[in-house]
Amino acid sequence: FFCRFHPNMRGTLTVTGAEPGEEPAAPSFDQPLVIPKVITAANPRVIAQKRAVRVLPTGRQTPMWTYGGSWPGPTIRRPTGERTRVTIVNRLPRRAGPTSVHLHGDHHASKDDGQPTKFPVRPGQARTYDFPLRYDSKPEPSSFFFYHDHRMDRTSLNNWRGLQGMFIVDDPSEGDLRLPTGRRDVPLLIADRSFRYDNSLVEPQEPTRVQSHGTGHEQMAFTGPNAPPNDATVGTHVLANGRYAPYLNVKAVRYRIRLLNGSNFTSYNFALSNGRPFVQIGTGNGLLRQPVVRQDILLGPSQRADVIVDFHGLTGQDVILKSVPRTDVAPDEGTGTRVASIMQFRVGEKAKDSSRLPQVLPSPKRVKAPKVVSKTWRFDLGGSVEEGTFWGINDQTFDPARVDHEVQLGDTEAWRLRNDSDLTHYVHIHAEQWRTVSRNGGRPLPWERGLEDVWKLDPGEDVVVAARFEDYTGPFMVHCHMLDHEDHGMMATFEVSTRR
Ligand code: C2O
Ligand code: CU
Repeated sequence: FFCRFHPNMRGTLTVTGAEPGEEPAAPSFDQPLVIPKVITAANPRVIAQKRAVRVLPTGRQTPMWTYGGSWPGPTIRRPTGERTRVTIVNRLPRRAGPTSVHLHGDHHASKDDGQPTKFPVRPGQARTYDFPLRYDSKPEPSSFFFYHDHRMDRTSLNNWRGLQGMFIVDDPSEGDLRLPTGRRDVPLLIADRSFRYDNSLVEPQEPTRVQSHGTGHEQMAFTGPNAPPNDATVGTHVLANGRYAPYLNVKAVRYRIRLLNGSNFTSYNFALSNGRPFVQIGTGNGLLRQPVVRQDILLGPSQRADVIVDFHGLTGQDVILKSVPRTDVAPDEGTGTRVASIMQFRVGEKAKDSSRLPQVLPSPKRVKAPKVVSKTWRFDLGGSVEEGTFWGINDQTFDPARVDHEVQLGDTEAWRLRNDSDLTHYVHIHAEQWRTVSRNGGRPLPWERGLEDVWKLDPGEDVVVAARFEDYTGPFMVHCHMLDHEDHGMMATFEVSTRR
């Protein structure tokens, strides 16, 4: 059989240290939060390169693979509807091999989607990705996306090494809402990593390729004596915008914070130490219809939340952004949720605050969901204990040569996502911005009523989503965004074609 993965790999948190339920010693918050450089050009050139960056507060800098010399890479920030062509130049070390960049959440052509195998950017080469920032010929909703490496079998490694950044799409009409802007609009990419004594990254195991039987497609296996599969790349340190335990000086006013979980495997249940709630206004794929007041916000890998945090009345206090245990499940249920103190807001003086918290928000239109589900994607282990197991979808491991579902351009489809395994998965679908139709047969959660592209599926859960296939034909991916699961084959292809 083609897979040599350890049969007991579920939940092995082997590679990089910390047990997810354990809180490390409280950090002292002694380096400032860094806001990644913002690029506003229509045709930016971003060089993927190895660079030593400051992550830990003391000691050496950490060599990483970066977009543009920093981790996270520069934030690309563009007005909606204005075509943006991003050229990525691959100047990574030769051993990186080809890369592929995916703009997660955005709607664009298949050739610009960072396909895992189809358009590799080899060392020394460049590729220009075309993002019209339009949806069904209209400007996209104001959003906040995640660009990251998507190369087959190496997505986990390449993201761990630093190939990730944020992309904000601004809708100028959002100005009327008077949400916090400028320095009071803070992008925050949260991710975990582990370090050696010299501050270099602990490297998850290198994959090697072995030929599969029958399909002609190569599968991943792992080197070294009895090397377990790197099934859960988790880190000992939780970082905010690439820094360990940073602080940010804030005024006693409202802030907009764009939370993005850039971790490979770990999820965070964000909360503030002083008990103030977040007000969630968006999902990353546009605004919600109504703001949702949330005491804690659980985000799995690649999930985003657009939130307002109010520091009024807190002058002189320190507010810690934490990740707290989930209350809806037992801690040992394999959710990958991490407990940590992430960063500190040092609240200063009061200042003029002309921002408002609207009661109703201009949410993007949602499709009318068809009654009939036309495709079910089941996330589970495939194979068998005797012959080897793999993370799969509908009992199959990813094969880039296979199309798993065909759809017609212009059609609206409802799909069921089902978790038949006993670990949480975070399921991502490319190409469109999706409406959540139901969760476990009931109404979606209040913060799932906008548009989404990633859903949390606890064991046994069932989510129905719908979208109309607009504008673009070709192959697109559906996969688990726990990147080790994706690299282990929990990925499938759907292909959009025009009606004959
Ligand atoms: Cu964020 Cu297919 O990935
Ligand atoms: Cu998964």
